[in-house]
Amino acid sequence: MTGGDPFGPEYAADPYPAFARLRATTPVFWSGRLRRFVVTRYEDVVAVLHDTGTFSSAVVPQVLPRDRDALAGFTDWSARWLFFLDPPEHTARRAPLTRALSARAVAGLAARVDAVARALVAALPAAGFDVVADVAHPLAAQVIADLLCAPGPETDGFLARARILEHAAANARDPAARRAGLAAMVAATSALRVASAPSAPVPAALHAAWGADRDLIGAHSLMLLFAGVETTQNLIANAVRALLRQPGLWAALRRDRTLLAGAVQEVARYDPPVLGVLRRAGHDVTVAGTRIPAGAEVVAMVGAANRDPARFRDPDTLDVRRAPNPHLSFGLGPHYCPGAALTRLTTYAALDALLSAFPALTLRDTVLSWRDHDPTVHGPTSLPVYA
Ligand code: HEM
Repeated sequence: MTGGDPFGPEYAADPYPAFARLRATTPVFWSGRLRRFVVTRYEDVVAVLHDTGTFSSAVVPQVLPRDRDALAGFTDWSARWLFFLDPPEHTARRAPLTRALSARAVAGLAARVDAVARALVAALPAAGFDVVADVAHPLAAQVIADLLCAPGPETDGFLARARILEHAAANARDPAARRAGLAAMVAATSALRVASAPSAPVPAALHAAWGADRDLIGAHSLMLLFAGVETTQNLIANAVRALLRQPGLWAALRRDRTLLAGAVQEVARYDPPVLGVLRRAGHDVTVAGTRIPAGAEVVAMVGAANRDPARFRDPDTLDVRRAPNPHLSFGLGPHYCPGAALTRLTTYAALDALLSAFPALTLRDTVLSWRDHDPTVHGPTSLPVYA
């Protein structure tokens, strides 16, 4: 830790040593930098996520004054996102989206997702490429674009904007890049709410949840972009990196593709793209002996819980045969990620296509740079490989 701050510069590349220290010494930690309590043990993270009566999701990140112009037209944008609603409103608004993204509904998208992944991989140069820019990002963005609107020229504009958003997220400290990204996304989703066919399952689900309120439908399209693109892209990149770092594993997966679904689950546990989720204490509460006052914000650090030796045997070992694997990377309880089935399918498709095309895929020996704009987001900004 840097001067007692577990969220120092080394954290973005490898948060797990800091998590191990926190679990062992201060499992409920007040971070002066985050101005939040940080909960790291599995048992406590589960308790926080289940106790929706005490821990509210109404933790709305304030729109920064610098972002207000870019987000004009979406002033209520984040306050009404599913992430930040509590029951009973949450229950009713979420139901149509859960149905539209159910495992069964998503299975119908498998052929299309697979075809997109294979087309991207077929176009890769034989010498080497960047897993993030050339596979993970375009695939993740295309999958969300397909959900939100019909394929066509509109989708192309959408993808360009998703790249701007990605750039904005990676450069969150560069106010101009961030503003440009947010403004472009608002423009894209404003166009979508007019253009989308409400008969497509996800736009129809947003219509069912929010009635005719076009601003809210646009805001929720934006939410799906935030929730689905960077996360899936980081899972694919973290997965390729983790699988290639373990000698012999890539070859083993090539030989036996029945291991791949378990590998996707295990990488989600081992190196998740979302390290923590946010809650607010509705009243004074004590967790693992530490008093959390009413109104305080709490990060339930699922990435730390996933490596808790009290819950997982050899938690720092990537074991693609691990079963059961009750990791918390998609959350738990009423806010459990409705996109989990889709993102598993997308990550599977990316890995399957890469395994088929590149028997000797190898990580290039470069120092990676990491997304460090938010201590709950985890993934490299690029991942160069030799093919
Ligand atoms: C690897 C990829 C993904 C990860 C790790 C992930 C993780 C999570 C987590 C941890 C939560 C719970 C948040 C909380 O409890 O406060 C969540 C919620 C959510 N996710 Fe995902 N997600 C992923 C992909 C997706 C995709 C592809 C979509 C959309 C298609 C999506 C849509 C959502 C939505 C709408 C919520 C809010 C649900 C609610 O509050 O009821 N996610 N996700």
